[in-house]
Amino acid sequence: MNDQMTTHQAEEDARNEDIKIFVNGQVVPKADAKISVYDSGFMLGDGVWEGLRLYDGKWAFVDEHLERLFEAAKAIDLGIGMDRGEIFAALEETRTANGIKNDAHARLMVTRGVKVRPFQHPSLSRSGPSVVIIVEHSRPSLPRPIRLATVPHIRGLPMSQDAKLNSHSKLNCVLACIAAEKAGADEALMLDVHGFVNTTNACNFFIVRNGEVWTSTGDYCMNGITRRKVIELCRANEIPVFERNFSLVDTYGADEAFLTGTFGAQTPVSEIDGRAIGDGKMGPVTGQLRQLYKDMILTEVS
Ligand SMILES: Cc1ncc(COP(=O)(O)O)c(C=O)c1O
Repeated sequence: MNDQMTTHQAEEDARNEDIKIFVNGQVVPKADAKISVYDSGFMLGDGVWEGLRLYDGKWAFVDEHLERLFEAAKAIDLGIGMDRGEIFAALEETRTANGIKNDAHARLMVTRGVKVRPFQHPSLSRSGPSVVIIVEHSRPSLPRPIRLATVPHIRGLPMSQDAKLNSHSKLNCVLACIAAEKAGADEALMLDVHGFVNTTNACNFFIVRNGEVWTSTGDYCMNGITRRKVIELCRANEIPVFERNFSLVDTYGADEAFLTGTFGAQTPVSEIDGRAIGDGKMGPVTGQLRQLYKDMILTEVS
């Protein structure tokens, strides 16, 4: 385990050095895209974000992404200061300013904005939110299936920091990823408070056993849009799918495992804690779901 890679690995693209970025109403060159050191996102991780993908000139599942963004903003009592139409227009303005028509990834970020003093209280952010949109040229490129390591960092109860918030503060996940790297894996497999297998540090997690697709109950993980689409695809194609508790024993003994996320769609897993999953290659159900998802995207963007 030494050739390090991540689930968000893309082909090198020199054009990304010269992109333009949306910062608070203006689309500016990357070198000028700056946020104050007093910004609550920088100081405290006090903000929410979405990752979106562009296929054939269209943002896939954009309504779901904007719905989740506005739901998260409401939950953290953050007024975005723009409605959904305006956010979408800003996303499109950023895309067109960069002349991008295909294969792009957007990171759309909203924080509580600049503080008047360098302290935690949210009332110190008085000049409105900060809205930043990065649209990069992006073609996922995974040379091999992903290796996971189970880590001591868990997905906690929703009354501490609800895993359904796509918050800027991802320290729990970052620490999980560091622990996985130190164990020689690519990313972390995280358990829930009861010790059931839950999610990875940046993606949702599925296993396949005897032709059945299993994922966690959803209580402790991000309500991933790709996760939901995979469940829908299973139901529509008579692939048995279960949102249920399962353990590491079930996981090590699975025939296949894969991750889901907007960036990588369905990413096969070869190894968990040094145990090969199946034959260590992408399995047939993962392959079938990847194809079904590709077809779904084609319908979505046509
Ligand atoms: C922790 C975590 N899990 C899962 C996901 C995947 O969600 P989606 O499929 O909506 O991209 C994300 C994406 O932001 C995430 O941050």
